[in-house]
Amino acid sequence: MGNNFKEEVLSRRTFAIISHPDAGKTTLTEKLLLFGGAIRDAGTVKAKKTGKFATSDWMEIEKQRGISVTSSVMQFDYNDFRVNILDTPGHQDFSEDTYRTLMAVDSAVMIIDSAKGIEEQTLKLFKVCRMRGIPIFTFINKLDRQGKAPLELLAELEEVLGIESYPMNWPIGMGKEFLGIYDRYYNRIEQFRVNEEDRFIPLNSDGEIEGEHPLKASGLYDQTLEEIMLLNEAGNDFSPEKVADGKITPVFFGSALTTFGVQTFLETYLQFAPAPMARNSSIGEINPLAEQFSGFVFKIQANMNPAHRDRIAFVRICSGKFERGMTVNIPRLGKQIKLSQSTSFMAEERNTVDEAVSGDIIGLYDTGTYQIGDTITAGKDNFQFERLPQFTPELFVRVSAKNVMKQKSFYKGIQQLVQEGAIQLYKTVKTDDYLLGAVGQLQFEVFEHRMRNEYNAEVLMERIGSKIGRWIEGDVVDENLSSSRSLLVKDRFDHYVFLFENDFALRWFQEKNPDVKLYNPMDQD
Ligand code: G4P
Repeated sequence: MGNNFKEEVLSRRTFAIISHPDAGKTTLTEKLLLFGGAIRDAGTVKAKKTGKFATSDWMEIEKQRGISVTSSVMQFDYNDFRVNILDTPGHQDFSEDTYRTLMAVDSAVMIIDSAKGIEEQTLKLFKVCRMRGIPIFTFINKLDRQGKAPLELLAELEEVLGIESYPMNWPIGMGKEFLGIYDRYYNRIEQFRVNEEDRFIPLNSDGEIEGEHPLKASGLYDQTLEEIMLLNEAGNDFSPEKVADGKITPVFFGSALTTFGVQTFLETYLQFAPAPMARNSSIGEINPLAEQFSGFVFKIQANMNPAHRDRIAFVRICSGKFERGMTVNIPRLGKQIKLSQSTSFMAEERNTVDEAVSGDIIGLYDTGTYQIGDTITAGKDNFQFERLPQFTPELFVRVSAKNVMKQKSFYKGIQQLVQEGAIQLYKTVKTDDYLLGAVGQLQFEVFEHRMRNEYNAEVLMERIGSKIGRWIEGDVVDENLSSSRSLLVKDRFDHYVFLFENDFALRWFQEKNPDVKLYNPMDQD
């Protein structure tokens, strides 16, 4: 495919932004899109925000689903790079979705609110990135407000997250006294709220302002120099290799709301963020520069247009080039499909995509063929990419159709929502009851709402509370071991799972049945 293909792949930067709600993910995303020329007005992303919501908001959002889908993948060109930002739901009840999206990126940007430091959700998402070994870039936001001392924030990064950090720049004051950032990487100072021409002050080889400058009169300048000295002497060294291995996180300070430090962040980030990386599969690593097209489905979004029952399967391309109209295999189904309807995701509109390469995300129109985690490949090798993480749900309900005459739409709705990964389905072994499993309560509410609105199926949901799910090694078990406190069910792949009422029931069962080896898939990675 030649050099052009190689250059194209190497220009891709595909990442997700992780943060605790309210740290500024939407604001930063929007500013990045503005720089990339992908949107014209601030407020475009804000209005489509799907971050924090109650069910009522979700319903509202759902009305604008066509729009919110475009914002789940945002693509723009900047300098010689093609940037793909993958959005992740902010609400923790949808963390399974977020985790799957993190499987599709090559790096992550972690936003921290300077006043709050590391928050719960950031920590969780950070751990997932860590597990995958993907590089993490940190943006410490809201410097225009009074926050924690920068050194304290760095210490927190290292202690709470256990990752080394290297500040690429350093704030000069904060809040009302925020004067700008001392840019260690570009050896310059970038002043806050100063017009374009005068904003940057170059530094001399000692890292100081040469000659007279009003900034020097501020005590904050001297304080910054002292802190920089401390960082130079006692801090970590910058190492692009360690960044690429996810061992050190470059740290940037700024204020997304006032668009300060964002462009500097973007430009530096693009230099050090990795191009598409090789991915593990059942036949070994798949090189992104390999010619044969391959990818996997990490997200399915349904019914963008309620008038048509269409879905879009989001595919991360892992190797080769996608060309519209090409024929591919889906090894899970042993089936060939011609990919004629496809879409790319420039922020303000969805365009038909004719070509895309490793690192890109394409949307494929789907009439129920794809399933979360499906591998798609154009070659003859029937391999599978590493499986996507499946959560062990903790909340369960028993579900049935309210109206027996509507069984057909009930089953269809459940089947599709499960394929989409919106909820997990289990069946009791003896009675064939349907149980739904979720990580967060909101998933049930969204399920109920979508069943009614998209499939015209009213559901009855009977809470059976929280359970501890454990799969069985070897997948063979005496079905008579099922009881109310250790309910035996099958997951959608027909694997046995015990749902224990509580820890006590789990231990009791293990003592009584030492031959049954139980495991939690989430402990397996
Ligand atoms: P999220 O997507 O991570 O949940 O955060 P979002 O961008 O919505 O930002 C959360 C709040 O923090 C917003 O205020 C936003 O304006 C504010 N914010 C973001 N970046 C900065 C910053 O650099 N400095 C300051 N001072 N504030 C920032 P809000 O009042 O909740 O929303 P809105 O009424 O402004 O829309």
